[in-house]
Amino acid sequence: LRIADIIRKKRDGESLSIEEIEFFVEGVVNRSIQDAQLGAMLMAMYIRSLDSEETTYLTRAMTHSGEVLKWPAEWKGRIVDKHSTGGVGDKVSLILAPALAACGMKVPMVSGRGLSHTGGTLDKLEAIPGFTVSQSHANMIKILENVGCCIVGQTSNLVPADKIMYATRDVTSTTENIGLITSSIISKKVAESLDALVLDVKIGKGAFLKNEKDARELAQRMSLKEDKNRNDTAAATTTTTTTVAAGNGSGVQTVALLTDMNSPIGKKIGNAFEVAESIECLHGNGPNDLTDLVTRLGGQLLYKINAAESMDAAINMIASTLNDGRALAKFRAMIVAQGVQEEIADKLCRKGADVFEVLPKAKYTYEIQCAKSGHIHSIDSMNCAIVTGKLGAGRAKAGEVINFAVGIHLKKHIGDAIEKDEVAMVVHHDEDGIFPEEFAGLLKDAFVIGDRPVTHATRVLDVIT
Ligand code: URA
Repeated sequence: LRIADIIRKKRDGESLSIEEIEFFVEGVVNRSIQDAQLGAMLMAMYIRSLDSEETTYLTRAMTHSGEVLKWPAEWKGRIVDKHSTGGVGDKVSLILAPALAACGMKVPMVSGRGLSHTGGTLDKLEAIPGFTVSQSHANMIKILENVGCCIVGQTSNLVPADKIMYATRDVTSTTENIGLITSSIISKKVAESLDALVLDVKIGKGAFLKNEKDARELAQRMSLKEDKNRNDTAAATTTTTTTVAAGNGSGVQTVALLTDMNSPIGKKIGNAFEVAESIECLHGNGPNDLTDLVTRLGGQLLYKINAAESMDAAINMIASTLNDGRALAKFRAMIVAQGVQEEIADKLCRKGADVFEVLPKAKYTYEIQCAKSGHIHSIDSMNCAIVTGKLGAGRAKAGEVINFAVGIHLKKHIGDAIEKDEVAMVVHHDEDGIFPEEFAGLLKDAFVIGDRPVTHATRVLDVIT
């Protein structure tokens, strides 16, 4: 086999065989495929799409590009995780992993970095001085034993193919593709050998998929449920999963929530800012939309594995860990176990602490005023993401160093009344000289102001079980 021939075949719209996809993934990991060839292949896959079989082959090859994790038998039934398809201001994982651990779960969360305009959990956590995303399997077991949750990255042992492909997709505009997203997410989740998984499938301006039809298709494709009658990727992916899961003697119970990603989640966007807001939420003081999303995602997962008698009870289990400090204690223990010094963890987690004594802080602020009086009906999350990305929160080249400090603090959110010229958001940035007019314009335009009051309903649009 020759990689140039495989690229040509996909470029011309033909389906790739299992051997060709395995050869490709092997070449990605052993670096026999050049960066230019990887970029070309991803673009061919993006433009021509992957059919069900190809998605299955890719998911399987990516999963087995590294080790598949094994856990102590006594954890059986409690190994769970959550994954999002990517959003703006989406810091849910930082809160939900410790909240689930506080409910007695084991959460071996394998996350990603920023992808296109969306932020990445690993980048956010690296805003905390000392936090180390690269952990061996043995360390993960130790942390899960002692704390209950860890948040780690793909490494040379753990789904290395995703690590490399993800970084290239980020800088080649090849992210928004159902097959590539499915294989990226599911390969990581299958490698974790989970009992149950909740997927947050985002729809709207700040999501990769803008309409409900595509988001539903993604949710179906990612479903790990056994459905022998379906001759599509979900069923095909099941074969992958059950093959792996059979090794552990279990399948993965999956529930997917379709959620609204038109406006930013919470009031803070940007790596350090999102850590700060996660800690507020872990103190029980999070913005309503964020807390609602965390408790509903966690609640669905706990209910799915019969850890609660009703959905309300499951949601309350998560909520109480936020209100009584148990989730915060787990977060503190997790960051210490992943390399953060006790003193820094104390400064971050103490009630009333100024977390920016520890987290990176930008040099300047720029205020965006509201153009007219009324009620905020929507805030364009894509505009916010474009500006934070250009200010340095995202990458233009693979491996680029990002600026953890820059970000946006929304002073008002959907449903709030606002006066003309009132400050709607504050941008924290490191641009020497005049703040770029283009950025100010995008942020001003992000606000849709109407005359009538509106209420900010839950972001959860549907649940697919
Ligand atoms: N999250 C991932 O891990 N992969 C994607 O492709 C998109 C979101």
